[in-house]
Amino acid sequence: MIYPIVKYPNTVLEKPTEQVTVFDDDLRKLTDDMFESMYAAQGVGLAAPQIGKSLRVAVIDVSIGKNPEARLVLANPEIVHAEGEQREEEGCLSLPSFRGMVMRPLFVTVRAQNAAGEPWEMRGENLLARAFCHEIDHLDGVLFIQHLGMLKRDLIRRKIRKLLKAGQW
Ligand code: NI
Repeated sequence: MIYPIVKYPNTVLEKPTEQVTVFDDDLRKLTDDMFESMYAAQGVGLAAPQIGKSLRVAVIDVSIGKNPEARLVLANPEIVHAEGEQREEEGCLSLPSFRGMVMRPLFVTVRAQNAAGEPWEMRGENLLARAFCHEIDHLDGVLFIQHLGMLKRDLIRRKIRKLLKAGQW
């Protein structure tokens, strides 16, 4: 099932999520649906709040469906190590068409569980490191615009308010 993507300023996006405690068929189905929804929206990552569920789970596939091994389910993820810096443009499916330069670590090691509850740990670099940070931010109720300067952030917020008023958001 393909879920519609929840857009800013829906409050579910700025609320910290609940830990995953049950690893059952429902969770498996939810994460499968999240991959499907992410591919349909042409994203490389999707967090549960973006489909309206305040649960600490996200999916990432920086290969955009090309490499099955790149499909990652991040249940209860934590960053255990980060180093270096990268400054690149970042966007978000919940803020379509808006982008901004965000500083992130170049290398990020994440510890998480898969859909079956099995623990895993991985060191990502470049885009994967960025995706780890972006999706874990989502699970903490943080959007990428919060990493932008105040002027840029306010400009984006103002534009979205205008689009909302015009019924174009
Ligand atoms: Ni996002």
